[in-house]
Amino acid sequence: MTQDMRRAERLEGEAGVARAATLLRSGALVSFPTETVYGLGADARNSDAVQGIFAAKGRPHFNPLIVHVPSFDAAGDLAEMPDWAEVLAQAFWPGALTLVAPHRGTLPDAVTAGRATVALRVPAHPLALQLLDATGRPLAAPSANPSGRVSPTTADHVLDGLDGKIAAVLDGGPTQVGLESTIIGGPTPTLLRPGGVPAEAIEAALGAPLAAAPPQAANAPSAPGQLASHYAPNAPVRLNALHAAEGEVHLGFGPVAGDVTLSASGDLHEAASRLFALLREIDRLGKPIAVAPVPMVGLGVAINDRLKRAAAPR
Ligand code: TXA
Ligand code: MG
Repeated sequence: MTQDMRRAERLEGEAGVARAATLLRSGALVSFPTETVYGLGADARNSDAVQGIFAAKGRPHFNPLIVHVPSFDAAGDLAEMPDWAEVLAQAFWPGALTLVAPHRGTLPDAVTAGRATVALRVPAHPLALQLLDATGRPLAAPSANPSGRVSPTTADHVLDGLDGKIAAVLDGGPTQVGLESTIIGGPTPTLLRPGGVPAEAIEAALGAPLAAAPPQAANAPSAPGQLASHYAPNAPVRLNALHAAEGEVHLGFGPVAGDVTLSASGDLHEAASRLFALLREIDRLGKPIAVAPVPMVGLGVAINDRLKRAAAPR
């Protein structure tokens, strides 16, 4: 019987962490919670296991993975961390920040898509940290969704997309942040993907402005899920909608009430944590989605980035 035909085990608590670590060490795929979204984890040193991530997600091979490590020192074992990266790690790790740095050539090419750099993150979720500790390996983990779809913020979301293709999911309840990590690369600190840590906070920690990401070819994103259509529900999405048109479900924010709201009080943290779950819920109704304007400050930049990709032509 192939891995393909089995249902995923649902794991919880301390015993769940131990089982997940055993599975990961044997080369299996295990989804685990982080504070941003659920990751689809594999032993980052095991080339076959990492290839399995691409197969399960239907992820294009040119799109490299984020490697999760327990500490800044563990990141330094895998990559030459520049001074600015150390400053940002001090300020935001564990947390929703991924740093891209030149690797030391010890990881399989599948992880880095053959690049000279690797993306690294110390996640803040207690179960993720316990799992890294119990496994004793760096864990490669993209978001645990089929490629191009909305990222999972609960274990049920993970199973919706990947049951039958993974060995297990470690259930840690709904994730706190709800959006993927912010990605910063070099050689001078450059914003490659807006995410859970606002650019303003990163610039304050650096004491300098971030560079903007260079424009990139559609088949070779220099970072991130930065393909135009991404995070996409099945239904069409219309942005900056003050009112819904006939047949649309209206997703509100702040003063724009909508049929259902990202945050009635206009709180961007609440909106970020609810965004992906609400897109999925509305999608189940099979109706087009109209979304109220969300301000372009703080987490609003990442929320608008994901909305823009969800609305892009496919
Ligand atoms: O919050 C998150 O970042 C979640 C959790 C699970 O940690 N992970 C996540 O992974 O969002 P994923 O694969 O969905 O997005 C990672 C992005 C990819 O779009 C990829 O292009 C970028 O990181 N990336 C990975 N390695 C890179 C590198 N060496 N240079 C530039 N971008 C890189
Ligand atoms: Mg993703």
